[in-house]
Amino acid sequence: MVGVNKDILTFSDTNTPAFTETDFPLDWSMTRNERYGFIHLLQKIKPKVAIEIGTYNGGSLQVISQYADKVYAIDNDPSVVERLGKQFKNVEFLIGDSKDIVPKLIQDIKDKGELLEFALIDGDHSSKGVATDIQNLINYIPKSNYHIVLHDSFNPNCRKGMKMVNYSANKQVHYVELDFISGVYAPDNLKREMWGGLAHIILMPEARQTSFQIYESQEKLYNIAYKRSIHYVKDTLSFLKPLVRLFRK
Ligand SMILES: C[S@@+](CC[C@H](N)C(=O)[O-])C[C@H]1O[C@@H](n2cnc3c(N)ncnc32)[C@H](O)[C@@H]1O
Repeated sequence: MVGVNKDILTFSDTNTPAFTETDFPLDWSMTRNERYGFIHLLQKIKPKVAIEIGTYNGGSLQVISQYADKVYAIDNDPSVVERLGKQFKNVEFLIGDSKDIVPKLIQDIKDKGELLEFALIDGDHSSKGVATDIQNLINYIPKSNYHIVLHDSFNPNCRKGMKMVNYSANKQVHYVELDFISGVYAPDNLKREMWGGLAHIILMPEARQTSFQIYESQEKLYNIAYKRSIHYVKDTLSFLKPLVRLFRK
């Protein structure tokens, strides 16, 4: 366990100290709570094949790579391969936009008969981008339980994207919980913004027999934070956008 470096602590720092840094030393864009939940899930699932959308500095990839047999890591930043390529033996890096790469990758996985059991979505954070990534990743009939984890479910844009998907049309989707791990309000340097949170989707080989619902176990917390957030101000004033554009011309 690492010691507590008081110099790096500030009042609302949700990331450090994490006490797992020694096991997973690469820079990681998740809070303490998320890291613990994420590591625990991967330890339990031990996926045969995993997909990661959004690698950045390899924070989440170092965990997926440790517990999965094989990982496909997607990022639109080509420097990811130069920076991390040599560090992971079981990772194939795919560079480009996830919305172009994932449909083809899912088809390849199906053709090769590989067992996809885990995916992380942490790339394009726009509502449409998140919804497209989910839609593409659930287009797979699993042969064993298939878990999808989504980062930033507490961010209003990402959450909206997570709710845009028509899960009930897909009988393999058994469970969607947007607040598997709760997010944070106004972390350091991000005044009145809402970020973080892990959502969790589970697909199963057998078709769902029951009606479907999206769980939001921390919806009340989300709503309280949203009303005090900069996102609420922006959404409320969004009707002014065309006017602002007009004045900018
Ligand atoms: C928040 S970071 C990922 C952090 C990482 N998962 C972690 O936990 O440390 C987001 C990454 O997604 C990548 N990205 C953004 N939009 C993307 C897209 N449309 N397709 C693929 N990668 C994308 C960015 O280049 C960036 O490296």
